[in-house]
Amino acid sequence: MNEALKGSTILITGITDAGSLALSVARQARTEGATIICSGLGRTPHHEGISDRAADFLDKTYSAFEETVKAELGAETPAFPLDVTLDGSIQDFCDELKKQDILLNGFLHSIAMDKTIKAGVVIKSILDVTKEEFFSAMDVSAYSLVSLTRGLIQNQLLEKNSSILALSYLGAEKVAYHPYKNIGVAKAALERIVVELAHELGVSHNIKVNAIRFSPYTGSKAGSAIQGLAEAVEFCENHSPMGNARPEDLAWESAYLLRPYVRVTGEIRNVDGGYHIRG
Ligand SMILES: NC(=O)c1ccc[n+]([C@@H]2O[C@H](COP(=O)([O-])OP(=O)(O)OC[C@H]3O[C@@H](n4cnc5c(N)ncnc54)[C@H](O)[C@@H]3O)[C@@H](O)[C@H]2O)c1
Repeated sequence: MNEALKGSTILITGITDAGSLALSVARQARTEGATIICSGLGRTPHHEGISDRAADFLDKTYSAFEETVKAELGAETPAFPLDVTLDGSIQDFCDELKKQDILLNGFLHSIAMDKTIKAGVVIKSILDVTKEEFFSAMDVSAYSLVSLTRGLIQNQLLEKNSSILALSYLGAEKVAYHPYKNIGVAKAALERIVVELAHELGVSHNIKVNAIRFSPYTGSKAGSAIQGLAEAVEFCENHSPMGNARPEDLAWESAYLLRPYVRVTGEIRNVDGGYHIRG
């Protein structure tokens, strides 16, 4: 049996429901021996003054996260609220890890949000994206990799040889088959951050930082909201040399990159059945 992650404690962010890609990574990492802890978006004391609607959304999102972790990974799996856009929430999360003597050997960043993408609504063209929508997508989907990593490092919660992994998409580089627009710009920033962090943290802490671009996937909440994604899934399935990659392909590659002794860093991997090689 492959126990390459035995002795590793891995933080999995970005689980909302059973369709979340992060869940497949959590399962595989655990199968390979890792101890899993999870963080999910939810209401924190730092969300003061938000509307009732926003509070309701955060509460429902957190309940869904807690139920999913309990049902899919077991009630014993530690689960914490974390809004990566709020420094106070990151610090509370770090304090909680310290209180529980949890030290990490890596984490999965599986977080994205773009206000210009709403289920059933046509995605805004880049020219129509407001400054607020632009920076909010950047904040949640790209800068959060910096702020979460910084929080964990400053609080000495990431062991040497740790592995950081972020999820991305081909739309970071190219105009995708379906409109990816504003979030594509944020993913480009995310990938560039991966490369910069890989250099800085490789030198300073022997920590590696990589990203995986995954096939289009409608099984998750984020995926199901993207206009035209179902058609993209079909198109890519037919045009990828091996058909679309499945969540288990993502999970296997992620678990590999999370191994403590693997010297692979600064990589933007394509786990997409080979779709990226098509012209
Ligand atoms: N679905 C696809 O087609 C696809 C393809 C390639 C890459 N990805 C990427 O995979 C990752 C996971 O997406 P998914 O498809 O599993 O969808 P998902 O909806 O299950 O996951 C997105 C997660 O981001 C979290 N999130 C949003 N704002 C947050 C915040 N402020 N603080 C903390 N968490 C926050 C959500 O709660 C959710 O858990 C994303 O980065 C996404 O861009 C998705």
